[in-house]
Amino acid sequence: MAEKVVIGNAELWLGDCREVLPLLPHVDLMLTDPPYGIGIDGQKQSTNRNPKHSRKAHDFLGWDTETPERLVFELLRYKSNGQIVWGGNYFTDKLPYPTKGWLFWDKGQRGLTMSDGELAWTSFEFPMRAYTLNRVALQADGGTEHPTQKPLQLMAWCLGLVPEAETVCDPFMGSGTTGVACAQLGRAFYGIERERKYFDIACRRIEQAYAQPRLFEDAKVGAGETAVQGDMLLPANA
Ligand SMILES: C[S@@+](CC[C@H](N)C(=O)[O-])C[C@H]1O[C@@H](n2cnc3c(N)ncnc32)[C@H](O)[C@@H]1O
Repeated sequence: MAEKVVIGNAELWLGDCREVLPLLPHVDLMLTDPPYGIGIDGQKQSTNRNPKHSRKAHDFLGWDTETPERLVFELLRYKSNGQIVWGGNYFTDKLPYPTKGWLFWDKGQRGLTMSDGELAWTSFEFPMRAYTLNRVALQADGGTEHPTQKPLQLMAWCLGLVPEAETVCDPFMGSGTTGVACAQLGRAFYGIERERKYFDIACRRIEQAYAQPRLFEDAKVGAGETAVQGDMLLPANA
C-alpha cells in the first residue's frame, strides 16, 4: 500500500510508480531520472578513490538491474504535457519518438575512467543544450546521499528550460533532488520513490528546502533563454 506525505506544495509517495502514477493528476512536466540498468546501485565497484563518492558506501538495493518497461515511458507521456528523462540514451528503444531536444550534462571530466557526461531525452523542440557542471557541485548540495544523486543546479537548470511548467512530477524520485529544485523555484511537485531509505532522505531534503529562503531566485529564465551559471547553448551544427 503506497504511503503519502505532504510537505508544502509537494506530494511525496512511497511506492511503485507503476501503481501510484495512474492515481496522480496530469502534470505540466515529468522531470525524471529512472534506473539506467547499468548496475550503478552498488553491485559494481566504483573506481573513485574518494570514500565520499564510493558506491561501496551505499547499500546494494538492486534497483538498477534493469530499465523500466516501455509501458512506464508511455505512462509518463500520457500523464504530462512534456517530459525530460535523464539517461535517455539507455532507453532509446522504449522512448516514444526520436527528438532533437537532447540535453547534455557535461561533467567537465576529461581523460578519466568516469563518464564525461549524461544525456536526457526530452519531448521539447528546443535545440540540443549542454550544461557544464563538475560533479564536485554535489558536495555543495550536502553530499551524495544516493548513489546516483543529481546536482540540484542541474535539475534547477532543467526547470528553467520549461518556465511554463507549474506542476512537475518525478516518478523515480530517489533522494528528491527534483523536489528540492521545485521547492526552490516555486513549482508544485509530485514525487514517487519505491525504496523507504531514499524516500525518507527525499522527505527530509524537501522539508529543509521549504524551510530555507529560495536559492535560485536569480536563476529564473525566460522561454528559450538560459541564465544559469555554466549553461552553454551549442551551435546548431554541433
Ligand atoms: C537514478 S535513481 C534517481 C536519483 C535521483 N535523481 C536523485 O537525485 O537522488 C532512480 C530511483 O528510482 C527508484 N525506483 C526504481 N524503480 C522504481 C519504481 N518502479 N517506482 C518508484 N521508484 C523506483 C530507485 O529506488 C532509485 O532511487
